[in-house]
Order: sequence, then C-alpha cells, then structure tokens
Amino acid sequence: MTKLTEQATEQSTGSQPWWRGAAIFQVYPRSFMDGDGDGTGDVAGIRSRLPYLVELGVDALWISPWYVSPLADGGYDIADYRDIDPAFGTLAEAEALIAEGHELGLRTIVDLVPNHCSDQHPWFRAALAAAPGSPERALFHFRPGRGPGGDLPPNDWQAHFGGSAWQRTADAEGRPGEWYLHMFAPEQPDWNWDNPAVRAEFESILRFWLDRGVDGFRIDVTDHLVKEQGLPDSAGHHGRPDPWRDQEGVHEIYRSWRAIIDSYPGERVFVAELWENNPARFARYLRPDELQTAFNFPLLKSAWDAAELRDVIDDTLSSHALVGAPPTWVLSNHDTTRHVTRYGRADTTYDFDRAGRFGRPVDLDLGTRRARAAALLTFALPGGVYVYQGDELGLWEVEDIPDELRQDPTWVRSGHVDRGRDGCRVPLPWSGTERPFGFSAGDGDAPPWLDVQPAAWKDRTAAAESGAPGSHLELYRTGLRLRRAEPGLGDGPMEWQPSAPDVLDFTRPGGFRCMVNLGATPVALPGQSELLLASGPLDGGLLPTDTAVWLRRTE
Ligand code: NOJ
Repeated sequence: MTKLTEQATEQSTGSQPWWRGAAIFQVYPRSFMDGDGDGTGDVAGIRSRLPYLVELGVDALWISPWYVSPLADGGYDIADYRDIDPAFGTLAEAEALIAEGHELGLRTIVDLVPNHCSDQHPWFRAALAAAPGSPERALFHFRPGRGPGGDLPPNDWQAHFGGSAWQRTADAEGRPGEWYLHMFAPEQPDWNWDNPAVRAEFESILRFWLDRGVDGFRIDVTDHLVKEQGLPDSAGHHGRPDPWRDQEGVHEIYRSWRAIIDSYPGERVFVAELWENNPARFARYLRPDELQTAFNFPLLKSAWDAAELRDVIDDTLSSHALVGAPPTWVLSNHDTTRHVTRYGRADTTYDFDRAGRFGRPVDLDLGTRRARAAALLTFALPGGVYVYQGDELGLWEVEDIPDELRQDPTWVRSGHVDRGRDGCRVPLPWSGTERPFGFSAGDGDAPPWLDVQPAAWKDRTAAAESGAPGSHLELYRTGLRLRRAEPGLGDGPMEWQPSAPDVLDFTRPGGFRCMVNLGATPVALPGQSELLLASGPLDGGLLPTDTAVWLRRTE
C-alpha cells in the first residue's frame, strides 16, 4: 500500500487528482463497528477496521455524521459541529483515525450538514430564548404565523419527513409564539443563509476539519441552503426552482468554499448530495470553481433495465462533460433500500413511495445475482464509485423490523405510513454464527442499538466471506483491485459497442471491455478476449442472464 505522501508525489508528476476516479466507502458510524461494547458503532470500531478497508481496495472513506447529536435524525441533527458525540468517541480519536488512514493510504471525507442543525445547538437554544426580531432569531427562519392568532404556518411548505415544514414555538409560560422553518424534522431547524454570521460560522467549521487533515466534505442537501426571498407559498409557484431549493445564491456559497479548500495543500474534495433530475441544473454545481463531484442518483433510481441504464449512463456522461467533472456511481446509501432487495423485486425501480415499497415480494437470489453484476458495471464506468457499508457483503434490506424498534423520524412524522430507512442501517455482521455477529468488541455486552440482524446473515459476515471463493466480498475485493490496477478504468473515456438491446457492452482504453446481460437469454461472449472477472458462473462461451464480465482484447 502506498502512503499518501508518496501518492502526492506521483500526482504532482502529472496524473489526475485522486478523486476523479476514486472508490469511496461510506461508513454509517452507528452501524459499522462497535469498539467498546455499548451496542453503538464508534470511532474506535472504525479504526479497528481500517485494515479491512485497505484489503477491500478503496481509496477513501466518507463518514456519515459523527458529531455531537441527540440523534433525532441519525446524526444529521448536529448540536456541535466541532466535536465528536461521546457515544462515538472523542475528537482525539477522530484525529487519530484520520492520521492512521493516511498512513494506510486511505483518505477521510467527513459529512457537512449546512442546511440545518439540531434544536439542541446552543445558537438555536439561544434563539428560542430570545425575542422575535432579535439577532439570535435572525440566524434561523423565524416568522409569525398566519390566520387568526397566528395559528397557521407562515407558508405551505411541507417537510421532507412529512407534515408542515414549520414548528410553532412557545414561551416559558407556554404561550404560543413565532414559527420556525425545518425542511426535515422539527428537531432540525434550517439555518438562515442570508445571514453573514451563518456563512462565517461554516467557513470556520470547514477550516476546523481541514486543519485536522480531512481530505474532503460530503455536503448534505447541497441545494437547500438558500431559500427564495420572502419564502413564498409553493402552491401557485410557477416554474423552477422550488422556493426552498436550487436558488442562485447557493452557488456563491460553494465558490467561496472552493476557494477555502483550494487554499489547503493536497487535493481536497467536495461531494454534493444533490437529488436534482435536471442535468443542466445539476451540472451548475460542478462548474470548475464550485464543487468537484456529486452523487449520481439517477443510476440508483433506475430499474434493472438495459435501455434505462444506458440512458442514465449517457445522460450522466454528457451532463458531467458540460463542466468537465468526473461522474460518480452509487447503488445504495443510508437513505435508500439496499440494492440486493431492490433488484430482487419484480418492479426494480427505486421509488419514493416508501409506504408502497414495503412488503412487496423479494427474490434475494435474483437480487444478489444482479447486485454482483451491478458492482462490476459501476466499477467499470468512467469516474468514481461509492460502496455503502455492507454492499460488499451482499447485505439486503431488513424489512421486518418491529414497529416499536423503528428509529427513523420518517416513521412518526409520516403518521406511521412510511416505515423509513432503518432497514439499510442495521449493524454490520463481522464474524461468528450468532447475532450480533461480532458487531461489538470491548468489555461491554450491550445488544446492538438496532437489534434486528437476520439470522441468515451468518453466511454474510466479513469472516465467512473472506477468502471464500465466489463470495460477494471476494468479488468486490478482486473487482476493486483490478479497477485500481487497470489504467483504462476510473476517470477517462468509454465507448459503447454494438450489442443486443438487453446487453450493456462498452470498452475502456487498453483493450478493456465490460458486458452485462440484462436480457432473458444468454448471449455469446466475443472471441479473442481474455476473461478478467465474471460476476457469476459462465455458460461455456455464453454470458448468462443477470451476469457481467470484464474482458481484455487479446488480438
Ligand atoms: C440527507 C441525509 O442523507 C439524510 O440521512 C438526512 O435525513 C437528510 N439529508 C437530512 O439531513
């Protein structure tokens, strides 16, 4: 493994920045590995698994929020942006993790949540205690209500987790007062980005983590920070953008942030969380003086369908080419149904009908086969690739969580309609044949915070899969190792080859070729090719349904 200092020297001799073709592993800290036995994943647990990530062959880890948080939204409700939650460890441990990662050749990207904080953040506590019109309240969006007695919310915006996006305040005597805006849960008040003090605070937070050696930031709901002046109702609001997102002013913020990270040595990076369907609007965030990369969610949302995937790939390549940014490929994350489950359903489209998606039949063998093929597809496409913890083990969504154990605020906020995202956040199985499958180490013996691992995960532990020929983990390890070694992979061009409509077939420089059969019948493999890797068994010279191969031209 090359240390980052050596890599930096190689890079300065002319190769592309690392992030243009990186493989990045998402850690959801609560559920990755518990180092002290209290049932909650933590920084000590992540540190203990760095060798596992090195062996997996990723270049960096993105760590979902680990800051001080009441965990009203799994850590995306931050009470102190400059410290680690005691349940996860200490700032000193986080610094040690960043340094150890660098020693091992692993970069660290931290999660920045600039749209909202926690209602326990001291600035929001002060705002609640202060009078309407005060400078404390001007850091957030406080407004009087509408209607008699101000009993109605200031506008008609809906929170993403359900219900109005406004919460009414009450004074110490319980008398109702102003309302405040929260685009997510009421425990997550939105910052007022028109206020220079908010801008200054986040610039300082960026520097705080850059000074501790982080290699980049994932930006939560990138397009939400600036709201349309006057906070107009969305009913009757014509055209784009919605009044709560994608406002012009947000780009100025990112230009200023870019100047800050570029003033630091090394190649630090932003990755935008951007659920934007319009390719031209999407690309605006990736202009050369703004953010370098963004998650590519259209791939995650598409069905297991060759025509749809081909369109998504083409649209992705062309939208990114507009601004010279490298695409990224994402199959799952902590907000979405795990793709083994999605691809195991008759209708494989990821949809936002979260109520409707539960309880639909799943064929896990089918989903697993397709997930293996999808991994080789995404690893072979131009740009960067993300692996969500447990993807590499072939984990599926846990859909039978008892209602009383559900933690995701969407469950309550949707009036118990949307069962939420807990099913993709179940603590990882590491070893052994009994639950909790080695999730916890250390002296404590508390059960996992979400104690619902399926018994069948005994065959999906990292230990069981490690070294097992044909396992999901070994496919990921081999695929990522080859991807790193293959000069034509990562950033760079690709070329579609003529193929049957249900087959994705493309080449990359150096004679590399990827074929994925999404059709109902096997297709012939080309001659004069060496087989580098297959996602499943081949049928002589035929590529079976739901299987991918990597080949190299031999003539
Ligand atoms: C996106 C995050 O990925 C999600 O987990 C969170 O609930 C919302 N943003 C609000 O922060």
